[in-house]
Amino acid sequence: DEIHKLRLALLEWYDNNHRNLPWRTFKNASNGDDEEEEEDEEVQRRAYGVWVSEVMLQQTRVQTVIAYYNRWMNKWPTIHHLAQASLEEVNEMWAGLGYYRRARFLFEGAKKIVAEGGRIPKTASMLLKIPGIGEYTAGAIASIAFNEAVPVVDGNVVRVIARLRAVSANPKDSATVKRFWKVAAQLVDPLRPGDLNQSLMELGATVCTPLNPSCSSCPASEFCKALSISKEDTSVAVTDY
Ligand code: ADE
Repeated sequence: DEIHKLRLALLEWYDNNHRNLPWRTFKNASNGDDEEEEEDEEVQRRAYGVWVSEVMLQQTRVQTVIAYYNRWMNKWPTIHHLAQASLEEVNEMWAGLGYYRRARFLFEGAKKIVAEGGRIPKTASMLLKIPGIGEYTAGAIASIAFNEAVPVVDGNVVRVIARLRAVSANPKDSATVKRFWKVAAQLVDPLRPGDLNQSLMELGATVCTPLNPSCSSCPASEFCKALSISKEDTSVAVTDY
């Protein structure tokens, strides 16, 4: 059916077109008979990396985040290292990113997790109990690092879905965004939720841009209601959504 085809198109596009960003270099889940413990450790590192990168990305462009992320991960490669830091060091490392509260939450969250056994929780609902982790960060960590089939919605995803369904949406309106979480939950891929979520964010950032979207190179163009309407009625533009 249509949703299945759309998922396949998005995942195939993502596989061939995603940017190689430092937080995407961790190994993916299992390829057989690796030591289970080692694999769990790798997944934990990945979860920590996703957490750090997503918090940084909430306020800053990808190109700027890369250097901050690399410096941070060099200094504190795991939550155990981060939990040993001081707030002064954390703030110093964050300098230039702004919203220092987010850095402090990250630091406090790491300390809390380490104090409680040192394992980053594997589901969005458990992650939400950590102060500073909201729906967005919880969904990103759970889906990207732990393969939980939960959605992730940011401004890019709102725009992509609004165009796909041809419904106007203001990403600053919280009731609208709530509705879009429901739609995104239907769209999330049960086998590759993290990649599907990232494909939507990536598509919004690089193809389905606010102005002048590159519809001719979009993997979802044949499923896009905004595009088909704009073809029939030239007074309507894809950007109107
Ligand atoms: N923007 C924020 N997080 C992202 C991610 N994981 N992939 C692509 N763009 C993003």
